[in-house]
Amino acid sequence: MQGQKKGLVIAIDGPSGAGKSTVARLLAHRLGYTYIDTGAMYRAIGWKAKQDGIDPADELGLASLCDRTVVTIKVDHDDPRIVVDAVDVTGEIRTPEMGMMASAVSKSPAVRARLLGLQRELGSHGGVVMDGRDIGTVVFPKADLKFFLDARPEERGQRRYRELRQKGLDVDLDRITREIRERDRQDSGRELAPLKAAADAHVIDSSTMSIDEVLAVMMESARMKDVS
Ligand code: DC
Repeated sequence: MQGQKKGLVIAIDGPSGAGKSTVARLLAHRLGYTYIDTGAMYRAIGWKAKQDGIDPADELGLASLCDRTVVTIKVDHDDPRIVVDAVDVTGEIRTPEMGMMASAVSKSPAVRARLLGLQRELGSHGGVVMDGRDIGTVVFPKADLKFFLDARPEERGQRRYRELRQKGLDVDLDRITREIRERDRQDSGRELAPLKAAADAHVIDSSTMSIDEVLAVMMESARMKDVS
């Protein structure tokens, strides 16, 4: 039947470096769902702002950028891509600099409104695992299942450092950890849709947990919703 819901909407929120994208991708795979990385959308807008020389504090500049920019998400499980106008920015947006740009532009009401529409549309048929900062609180406050994945900042710094080194980037651990704390401050302190756990989220502190352990906890909660 047209418009019928297929599968749950699962929200995974938390600070940067907590392992959200890794477990979200695995969870989606296990359940046969689509994984949607909303941070990549903010990174894409941050990338475009940098290209066009727009200051992230320039609200009118960002609003006009949103009006003229097309962000396309290609939700292939093995090779998800994100395209800004005609440029595939999937690889380029993964740098620490783009993380900071994303955090800066994510304060903008125009940017948030624009991406909110896209995110709701992508999740409207269910069968999605969506990760970000405000999925369980703002994007899908009625999500079927919500997780808030956290870890100590030092641990998150280590993880991000290892991940970026593996990609061949020349990064510094102290600097990465400082940037993680700075992003926590920005993302939690902003007025609009700040990073916080929804009242009905399952909070998981992954500081001393492996990816498999986190995944097992999530799968158990999903099973209780009858989706295994
Ligand atoms: O998850 P990430 O590191 O790729 O996210 C980059 C930034 O985007 C993050 O620091 C804050 C912003 N963001 C947001 O405000 N809301 C979301 N749902 C996802 C990301």
